[in-house]
Amino acid sequence: MRQTKALRDLVRETELSPRHLIQPLFVAAGEDVREPVLSMPGVDRLSINRLVEEAGEVHAAGIPGVILFGIPQAKDEAGSGAYDPEGVVQLAVRALKEAHPELTVITDVCLCEYTDHGHCGFVRDGVVDNDITLELLAKTALSHAEAGADVVAPSDMMDGRIGHIRTQLEEEGHPNTAIIAYSAKYASAFYGPFREAADSTPGFGDRRGYQMDPANADEAVREAKLDLDEGADVIMVKPATPYLDVIRRIKDATQAPMAAYQVSGEYSALKAAGQNGWIDERAAALECLTAIRRAGADLILTYYAKEAAEWLR
Ligand code: PBG
Repeated sequence: MRQTKALRDLVRETELSPRHLIQPLFVAAGEDVREPVLSMPGVDRLSINRLVEEAGEVHAAGIPGVILFGIPQAKDEAGSGAYDPEGVVQLAVRALKEAHPELTVITDVCLCEYTDHGHCGFVRDGVVDNDITLELLAKTALSHAEAGADVVAPSDMMDGRIGHIRTQLEEEGHPNTAIIAYSAKYASAFYGPFREAADSTPGFGDRRGYQMDPANADEAVREAKLDLDEGADVIMVKPATPYLDVIRRIKDATQAPMAAYQVSGEYSALKAAGQNGWIDERAAALECLTAIRRAGADLILTYYAKEAAEWLR
């Protein structure tokens, strides 16, 4: 059954198509900006007008949704740009939903792009204060829902945030806003290029006090179950390729809709090897995406989304 393409197609177990992919996009303050992210060839920071253009092309390529990351003009101790109703993401969501009502708009909910210290929460006495942070995250998620986001995706890894956000959304009249929980988000070296893109490298310490230890998998299953109990609609594993076993274990344990995030370092490693002629980038990227689907991910957040959609045409 491997002899011809037609036979192989007949028995292929895993399907990879554009409808499984979500495109991450970086939205920056300013007018008419398209600024390349040097550590992520092919990825740019976009001002809102350029973002609307780009999202239109992504959607036309067959990608059903985008996830937005904001790069604000200014940062402060409390990350107030994250929950400013006129913040860069809130304005971008409104513009996107007006220009492309059929495009699913997901927002990343976190403080790290908005705090001057770069941590994912409110810092008190040198440590991130979980419970104060919950209030700020819920405020952020609500401001995204009010702007029209279809889905909010908390990536901060505070305890109890899914329940907190779910309650807030229900109480404030947004019962239909969905939540994709970054349930098993590891303290990973593969986020390096993103932190350059989002200017969110922690000013002191690291994120091991709240993100997961790469050595753990039972804990990931526990985290996913907690998030489902608290009201998550989709659970996510991040990064993706180094954690295929975790994706499979959570899928088997929960049967819930699952996302996986092929993160910046996974993308940039493939890009760099491709650009050097050391690897067939297209084949390697599609192989990784297929493997992530095979492991059990229903949807994949990937910087390759638009390009892969073109390759899969
Ligand atoms: C944090 C956040 C991060 C990513 C998505 N959301 C970075 C981090 O935890 O430092 C990483 C995404 C990537 O590397 O592509 N809000």
